[in-house]
Amino acid sequence: MGPYGKLFIYELSDEISVRGGVFGPDFIGCWNEAGSSFLFFSRRHDKEVKRWAANQGSVTLVSRHVMNYRDWQAGDDLKPFRVEKLVVCPSWEQVEMADEEILIRLDPGVVFGTGFHPTTRGCLKALWRIYQVDSPQIVLDIGTGTGILAIAAAKLGALKVVAIDLNELAVETARKNVMLNGLENQVQVKWGEAEAFIGKKADLVLANLHFQVIDALMKREEFFSKRWIVVSGLFHGQASGILESLEKQHVKAHDSMEDNRWVTLTLGNKSVEEGPERWQRRKAIPIVREKRSIEQSQDHIKNRKENWP
Ligand SMILES: C[S@@+](CC[C@H](N)C(=O)[O-])C[C@H]1O[C@@H](n2cnc3c(N)ncnc32)[C@H](O)[C@@H]1O
Repeated sequence: MGPYGKLFIYELSDEISVRGGVFGPDFIGCWNEAGSSFLFFSRRHDKEVKRWAANQGSVTLVSRHVMNYRDWQAGDDLKPFRVEKLVVCPSWEQVEMADEEILIRLDPGVVFGTGFHPTTRGCLKALWRIYQVDSPQIVLDIGTGTGILAIAAAKLGALKVVAIDLNELAVETARKNVMLNGLENQVQVKWGEAEAFIGKKADLVLANLHFQVIDALMKREEFFSKRWIVVSGLFHGQASGILESLEKQHVKAHDSMEDNRWVTLTLGNKSVEEGPERWQRRKAIPIVREKRSIEQSQDHIKNRKENWP
């Protein structure tokens, strides 16, 4: 079952920061959002939280919740899984590795990015396929969550990965996962808004986040200045809109994958080196079932759009 059977969640009336070590080993982390804080524990800590809140000035305990960790993770029991030769294994599980497989150890805590969501899997698959034909050295992971994509990029060969998240708990969780995989020299996890980092030089940008954020980033020229661009978290209509707008940006669509109504696009800037062009000439790339030519994808996406409510 792992370290998290049940989650004990305490909502506080203000955004606070909790120094490490205040609550001991059962404390998973503090999630700040919209003027509130949520403290997550793996065991009940009613008295300690009340006492602690009382010492924080005007902070009060608003509500308490208990839920199964499985329910928090949308009903998924976290188990090792494979995407191509990437093997993602929860830190408390064991997995048998075959030759040439690449291990990613992960303790997602309560942060997005277990790898079970179709958007994360789509990005892992896109990453795998890019590294079969090219070797992007500098990678920007915008909205890193647990750090899963940043870690995958580093393990596939990126020399430097900068992983960004505006959620402090995500940053903390991603940093722990980077350490768990011994990648401190390759992966830097930074707190901040995607918009502030998109101008940084990179060969590849990974963006699996809300469409509103992606939409705003796409209005910035720098977003499309990367050799490779992987975008996920899209519905059909949104993916279709992006594909239609590409001509203006010197950007080519290389791949479109769909899983459970979520679309992941792999794009390449035609004016930046030849990496993406080699995609067309690839020989030894395993063709995945979801693979369609981009023309087929566009048709497929348009057809779906027509049926879209
Ligand atoms: C859908 S999760 C993706 C996590 C992980 N990259 C994956 O593929 O599983 C999106 C993450 O983006 C972060 N995020 C949302 N808006 C952001 C923004 N404007 N700047 C930076 N991070 C953002 C969220 O906190 C969340 O951790």
